[in-house]
Amino acid sequence: MTNRELIKSALAARENSHSPYSEFRVGAALLCADGKVYTGCNIENASYSATVCAERTAIFKAVSEGCRDFSAIAIVGGNSDKMTMAYPCGVCRQVMSEFCKKDFRIIVAESEEKYEEYTLGELLPKSFEL
Ligand code: THU
Repeated sequence: MTNRELIKSALAARENSHSPYSEFRVGAALLCADGKVYTGCNIENASYSATVCAERTAIFKAVSEGCRDFSAIAIVGGNSDKMTMAYPCGVCRQVMSEFCKKDFRIIVAESEEKYEEYTLGELLPKSFEL
């Protein structure tokens, strides 16, 4: 699975975003070690704190299906005018750290061609663990 293919899956997942409050639509595609891809979108709620980010939707879908060995995640986000580099929020980084190693790849993309790639270790150094 190429970065480009993973970004394409994230862009497709973004189409399902439920974001009437922020109008900021996010999609994510999570690549498992066995090659399977779980996708997610942000799902907002009138009671704002009940909102779930796209990354956590994808991770929780995977974990609930028995998959916990992850290689990479692609994230895309933007409003109706413009795609932006949607870096994962702190809560999503912490959730990633529960299941992923420091070399887990985080691909933040504006399009299939324009993206940045980081490791979880770079985006969440000195993470909290028990
Ligand atoms: N959002 C995500 O889906 N992922 C992030 O990492 C940051 C924020 C969503 C949550 C909310 O629906 C919208 O973006 C604006 O905050």
